[in-house]
Amino acid sequence: MTVLALETSCDETAVAILRGHRSGDELLASEVASQVAAHEKYGGIVPEIASRNHLIYAPRLLDRAASAAKTRFSEIDAFAATSGPGLASSLMIGASIAKGLAIGFGKRYLGVNHLEGHLLSPFFGVEKNGDNVIRPNVSLIVSGGHTMLVFVRGLTNYQLIGHTVDDAAGEAFDKVAKMLRLGYPGGPEIEKHARGGDPKHFDFPRSMLASENFSFSGLKTAVRYLLPKIMLDEEWRLTQTPYNLNDQTLRDLCASFQQAIIDVLVTKTIAAAQKYRVDLVTISGGVSCNQELRRQMRDASSRKGIEFKSAEPWLCTDNAAMIAFAALLRLRAGFESHVTEEIDPNLALAL
Ligand code: KG4
Ligand code: ZN
Repeated sequence: MTVLALETSCDETAVAILRGHRSGDELLASEVASQVAAHEKYGGIVPEIASRNHLIYAPRLLDRAASAAKTRFSEIDAFAATSGPGLASSLMIGASIAKGLAIGFGKRYLGVNHLEGHLLSPFFGVEKNGDNVIRPNVSLIVSGGHTMLVFVRGLTNYQLIGHTVDDAAGEAFDKVAKMLRLGYPGGPEIEKHARGGDPKHFDFPRSMLASENFSFSGLKTAVRYLLPKIMLDEEWRLTQTPYNLNDQTLRDLCASFQQAIIDVLVTKTIAAAQKYRVDLVTISGGVSCNQELRRQMRDASSRKGIEFKSAEPWLCTDNAAMIAFAALLRLRAGFESHVTEEIDPNLALAL
């Protein structure tokens, strides 16, 4: 079975073609066009610009993916697209294209939950002989839009354990990076500057540690209040532009901020794994690219005798391969969507 998937839930346009074999799945193409440059000057994502760019990029990526895969659309068995959560006008582009292709070529259509795409991505490439290898696990999804802990009993059987009550972890990285004028996306910038910094130098709050939910806005505010106190000179202090830090202070600040987020994510994930008695922890989403988070989550898991699994970094940020993979697993399990199924900007993963 060969699946073509589109991902257009936010500011990345992506197309992938995945072929399922008895011996394992073969990724024939995975194309991603980032719109970071188009939104950067506005300091955030502008939905209208995102959807206009999806309209421009999607047909080009479809063409590129088909030729990379040496496949004609008529040879695709099912067309999938992210159906939510995300920006309504962006979701509509990918879903409409997938539906059009499915109708035009008389093939199946499947709407895929973006969060399920992230959540299943650590299992990408381990599927063998068409078996469903989604073992029970506690899954941490950490991206720019979401921070959630999910108890995964198996494919399609998800129980929400906790979620953020304010900012997502990636959003906190992005906002603090913006305060520091480090550029967007903020996560990789902060990670880069954290190298060589002392993670204990600044004492930032670890909020709601006893709860299964997350909160990162207090941490962000703590950084904001700290900045005027550590800026180098009076001129910068007056203009309130947090910019003029010496290099080591910046490194210490980034390392301490990153460590505060990691402590919260690791503590809650391990506690949930023990509560739900699973022997596997998985992490996914853009923030799970963070090498220090991966290292500390792996170490904390192994101290408790728990296995740790994460997708390769290229599969952690938004892409269509994870959507194609989720679609393939769902199609094998007998799911499909009707073309009248609408996109849902607030689509829930589990109740
Ligand atoms: O999954 P993703 O590509 O998009 C959403 O679905 O939101 O995640 C993007 C987020 C951004 O907030 C970005 O700053 C963060 O992932 N991110 C990172 C790293 N790489 C990306 N955060 C921390 N460390 C990183 N290395
Ligand atoms: Zn995402």
